[in-house]
Amino acid sequence: MINNSSKYKKHILVCVKERPKGNPRGSCLEFGGMDIRTKFVQLINKHNLKGIVRASKSGCLDICEVGPNVVVYPQNIWYSGVTVEDVEEIFLFSVLKDEVVERLVATNVTWEKWSSLRADSTKKLKDSI
Ligand code: FES
Repeated sequence: MINNSSKYKKHILVCVKERPKGNPRGSCLEFGGMDIRTKFVQLINKHNLKGIVRASKSGCLDICEVGPNVVVYPQNIWYSGVTVEDVEEIFLFSVLKDEVVERLVATNVTWEKWSSLRADSTKKLKDSI
């Protein structure tokens, strides 16, 4: 049985996974994940949406190489390569409305790029052992 009763109307997951500097996969924390999450929280508070919208710190979403990464539920919209300057646009379109920021949303091109980068980073990790 599927439970459709979510505590929040919108739930934003922001990857803040940290890895040591120089790790071939990189990490969303290194590229600004915490600042991105903080900006979402500021916007939630500014729009009096605390308790209705939640921006949670997430562990690795397993697409590190194209990060920082953000997912908006319940629409299941994946954004990659997000910067703190992009957050307000994502908030206005995907949190306040049910629209997608096309220039940031992950597409098949994103997944193909990620797959290639993952192959490279995996090889580098294996070579370093
Ligand atoms: S470190 Fe963010 S997706 Fe893996």
